[in-house]
Amino acid sequence: MSRGILITFEGIDGCGKSLIMGMVRDWLADEGYPVLATLEPGGSEFGQAFRKMLLESSFGSLDAQTETLLFMVDRSRHVEEIIRPALLRGEIVLCDRYIDSTLAYQGGGRGLNQEQLRIMNDFAVKGVYPDLTLLLSLREELAASRLGDSKDRLEQESLEFFRRVAAVYAALAAAEPRRFRVIDAGAEPQQVFIQAQTQIRMVLPPRRG
Ligand code: TYD
Repeated sequence: MSRGILITFEGIDGCGKSLIMGMVRDWLADEGYPVLATLEPGGSEFGQAFRKMLLESSFGSLDAQTETLLFMVDRSRHVEEIIRPALLRGEIVLCDRYIDSTLAYQGGGRGLNQEQLRIMNDFAVKGVYPDLTLLLSLREELAASRLGDSKDRLEQESLEFFRRVAAVYAALAAAEPRRFRVIDAGAEPQQVFIQAQTQIRMVLPPRRG
């Protein structure tokens, strides 16, 4: 369907995903690839309000179902407004979190039914699946120590919560080894970036003009 490439970045809070994704974006742009960097929640204009609702601590404890549905609305609109158009333009889309975050956080962390979550993901993305998913893997204790004091609503969850999230990520990666590539995020940023580059080079199209 699409001519571009969708690369998603996944991992627990504090794994350094956003930093590495920024390095990847700059590298691809320098190489002359048309690249678009986006994120969930809040990648679309419409989604900004949902990002606020989902992450601001002032919203207190949302129940897991409501939380999930908000992520889905954000995702559905993000696909239509941002991701699909960019893929149709032939761009390389880098997305900080996508469908696997829901399976890991709402499935693993919150304990919701994985099959139901998959059905909701399918409904929301309307056929737009990642070509490559980089999982930045890091021990939960280390990731927690990297988060500063001003944690958002989800980052305030317990170490146990993040252990469950990480366990689902690991299972997803094992189940889909062609799409998922696990990267050791405990290394220095430059080393993590090199690992990401190696994986991304394998899916890059030949450069144009
Ligand atoms: P964000 O500040 O973007 O964190 P990060 O930089 O680690 O990506 O917050 C996103 C939070 O939302 C993060 O804690 C994971 C969570 N999340 C879910 O629980 N389910 C989802 O489907 C998505 C997209 C994110």
